[in-house]
Amino acid sequence: MKRLGLFSALFGLTILFLAACQGPDRAEAQDGHGHPHEDHEALEGVTKAVCVIRGTAGNEKVQGVVTFTQEGQKLKVVADLEGLTPGQHGFHIHEWGDLRSADGTSLGGHYNPQGHPHGAPGEAKSHAGDFGNVTAGDDGKAHLELELTDVTLTGKSAILGRGMVVHAGTDDLKSQPTGDAGGRVGVGVIGVAKPE
Ligand code: CU
Ligand code: ZN
Repeated sequence: MKRLGLFSALFGLTILFLAACQGPDRAEAQDGHGHPHEDHEALEGVTKAVCVIRGTAGNEKVQGVVTFTQEGQKLKVVADLEGLTPGQHGFHIHEWGDLRSADGTSLGGHYNPQGHPHGAPGEAKSHAGDFGNVTAGDDGKAHLELELTDVTLTGKSAILGRGMVVHAGTDDLKSQPTGDAGGRVGVGVIGVAKPE
């Protein structure tokens, strides 16, 4: 009898434990609001990301690499692009890391978690994804370095997994909601960088 009692007690505890563990997780997985708790935490320690840019249909010469390094609250961005027409090209983080469309429209609008108007990088009230312009030389190459404090790789305004777009034209830094930068010539997805 004593052994049976112990067995029952253990069995009961096991059921309680499983219920406690699985209940909240299952609820979270089904809430449909894009907050998978465990995955979010697994990405917390990521400090380096990379976005490989490739040309959209008809702009196959466009290519480049954008690297992101999180140093505390500062996010350092270094972009090297080539195959562009000489001059200024609007450059932004867009909402979706979705490259399924040939023309880049599947990346959606500018990444804007705070609901701000379009503007210039570093402005108190501009889209978090507003990087302004890159300037290509006569050789079609452009280099840009930025330090941002309104977005981070992970956490509340996370950019990991979102997209980047290089535009055909110049971002005027004021027209709403896109800066009137024209079509999308280069696109990429911001991913976790392989440690060096
Ligand atoms: Cu854009
Ligand atoms: Zn914008």
